[in-house]
Amino acid sequence: WAFFAEDAEAILSLKRERNAVILAHNYQTPEIFHCVADIVGDSLALAREAMRVDADVIVLAGVYFMAETAKLLNPGKTVLIPDQGAGCSLADSITAQDVRLMRQAYPGLPVIAYVNTSAAVKAEVDVCCTSGNAARIVKSFGVPKVIMLPDQYLAKNVAAETGIEIISWAGQCEVHERFTAQDVRELRIANPGVTVLVHPECPPDVVAEADFAGSTAAMSDYVGQKRPPRVVLLTECSMSDNVAVNYPDIDFVRPCNLCPHMKKITLANIRKALEGNVHEVTIAADVADRARASVERMLAL
Ligand code: 13P
Ligand code: SF4
Repeated sequence: WAFFAEDAEAILSLKRERNAVILAHNYQTPEIFHCVADIVGDSLALAREAMRVDADVIVLAGVYFMAETAKLLNPGKTVLIPDQGAGCSLADSITAQDVRLMRQAYPGLPVIAYVNTSAAVKAEVDVCCTSGNAARIVKSFGVPKVIMLPDQYLAKNVAAETGIEIISWAGQCEVHERFTAQDVRELRIANPGVTVLVHPECPPDVVAEADFAGSTAAMSDYVGQKRPPRVVLLTECSMSDNVAVNYPDIDFVRPCNLCPHMKKITLANIRKALEGNVHEVTIAADVADRARASVERMLAL
């Protein structure tokens, strides 16, 4: 605490002065997640909670597309992202023009965008989804075939779960694509009895070897409800750190991959964000109106 105290205490008083709240994703480091955040969760929870925030300023401790989603749902509030370079390999893999061309190639198919996309991409689609509600959104159209962009692995995993054919895109999460089925088999040998939880951005053969696949919130809930004596969360490294704090009796096995984008957010730049309004998220009105409709349709479902 001594190491973080100066920045953390400054942030706590800046939040009061500015009537600000900090929304933090489950991949944020523990000093952000546990010491200064007001609302924590997966992408779906952050979007839902952003809709209910009663504050003048929102600081998004997460990646850029999450800050854009918060701004879409709070057009009248100041939304800050402490580092504009906190991107996402999925969001960077596809443009609005790519989506328009997909629609032309597959006329009439519903188009779903993972929230890990830019506002410009969200503006081109029928609805958004997150890893926490992708199967439900895909099924909601009641048709045998849909387009879901841009994560090819999430699309394959959801297609396997729902039996619905999904046309996707060649996007991948640079963190989850690195886990292999062989990693899971080796983990089981090295850690007898371990329960393996994976994120559905992992390749399908990794999901097939796991005990459970779900969003970051679903993984956290699984640990809380089932209390496996030994568990591994095949996902971003801070996830285990944040969950493990609540379960000292559970043995968390720690292979994990770091998300370099999530790790760009620090207590120091959260403090600067609140001190000087850096960096304010803005979205052009014509894009924002259409992108907001895609997010709101998801939240209504
Ligand atoms: P969740 O919606 O499961 O939190 O995932 C977000 C993300 O970026 C995973 O890599
Ligand atoms: Fe994007 Fe993957 Fe990082 Fe999540 S973990 S923000 S999907 S690069």
